[in-house]
Amino acid sequence: MVQGFLIASAGILILVASQIFWVKQFRGWARSLIPSSAWRRRILVAALAAYVLVISYNLLPSWIVFVLNRIATIGERVRSAGAANLTMRGALHQAHFWGWIRGAVRGSEPTHLTLRAALLQAPFQWWIFCSLLGFLIAVLLGLGDRIAQGARWLYRRVASASRAVPLPSPVSLARRRFLERTAVAISTAPFVAGAYGMFYERLNLEISHRRIKIPRLPRAFEGFRIAQLSDIHIGAFMPADEIRRYVGIANGLKPDLAALTGDFVTWDPSTQSTVVDVLAEVKAPFGVYGCLGNHEMWAKVEDSITHLFASRGIRILRQERAQIASGSEFINLLGVDYESSTRMGPNNQRLVREYLLGVDRLMAPDTANILLSHNPNTFDRAAAYGIDLSLAGHTHGGQVTLEFISPELSPSRLITSYVRGWFEKPGGQLYVNRGIGTIGVPIRFDAPPEITVFELTRS
Ligand SMILES: [Fe+2]
Repeated sequence: MVQGFLIASAGILILVASQIFWVKQFRGWARSLIPSSAWRRRILVAALAAYVLVISYNLLPSWIVFVLNRIATIGERVRSAGAANLTMRGALHQAHFWGWIRGAVRGSEPTHLTLRAALLQAPFQWWIFCSLLGFLIAVLLGLGDRIAQGARWLYRRVASASRAVPLPSPVSLARRRFLERTAVAISTAPFVAGAYGMFYERLNLEISHRRIKIPRLPRAFEGFRIAQLSDIHIGAFMPADEIRRYVGIANGLKPDLAALTGDFVTWDPSTQSTVVDVLAEVKAPFGVYGCLGNHEMWAKVEDSITHLFASRGIRILRQERAQIASGSEFINLLGVDYESSTRMGPNNQRLVREYLLGVDRLMAPDTANILLSHNPNTFDRAAAYGIDLSLAGHTHGGQVTLEFISPELSPSRLITSYVRGWFEKPGGQLYVNRGIGTIGVPIRFDAPPEITVFELTRS
């Protein structure tokens, strides 16, 4: 708890520092670009008003919930019994209090792009994310400059003491100004990259084709094609019409079977029926199957969305298997709910010590076993069981990464070593789909959305 408080406090401090940093930068730019002090004042007041409006709109629900949670914690300590207060907190949780507060301030999560989302949510998310990144870059550059200055000072001290080595020339004022301006210019790069990621890359779907060799694939399934869609995250920035467009693209690929690997909703349970309605348009002669993601668990819609899918002819596999038959032969399709061995998200449901417990009982010998598991971290266990192919999502391919510089520069590396693409180890293969939607910020960078088509082959 103390650790969580310290991390949260550090995060808030960094955020506040970043906002002060950028306000100072803007004031400096306004001074040099707008000579009239009256106009400068008017523009700054208007910008400040817009800033306060956007920040309040987006953060007010979180602040209210935070304060109520604090009151609940204090109450728990005062009573020292704990049980009564835990009930209160449990009640808040059970009643989807988060969703209720968000709904009261912002309305329920839309399934189409609204004016409010476009004018208030998107600019806020873009600004907070990019200003924070830009600030951290500026701090790192400043730190590097200070270290270089320190090294130069030390060198001068040693040089003047020994007089054996020539003194380095001091950095001129013009050069220092140039370096400072370059540092500020570099720290604005996230704003440009963020805009590119929001308006272009996020919508720039890639279709990946992959041949998967499974020696024990039945002959009747030679060339069998599976289309995988993952991490839809319906919402204002992944509206129903956009999903419908991707469904049309997937249908155009003429798969034999379609696999939907979880995270259909984001936070709001009220969006589930819309996403199911749209995904019901996915067509494949051998059927459409799926598994659930962590967002179905967090939004508490696992049972309800499974029933909704079933009513539209889509089968969600929950620790279950389905035999996909062609003539007298079949392949064995398995599916599991989200499970994790590390703490993540608003609660610790499905925290497991061992992945895929009991899944070996669902396997079929002498045929191909294909697992739908939202979390790619189940792969090690799946390979140990001998599951031929695992299809996963969850990571969004890192969503905002610099993998083109180094594979390590991806936030998803913090939770898995299986961030995107194809992996193989003795016993099995894994494909991690980058997904279609986004989470946190409606930005993708170096991780475009993806639909994958697999062609199964024996050789
Ligand atoms: Fe996701």
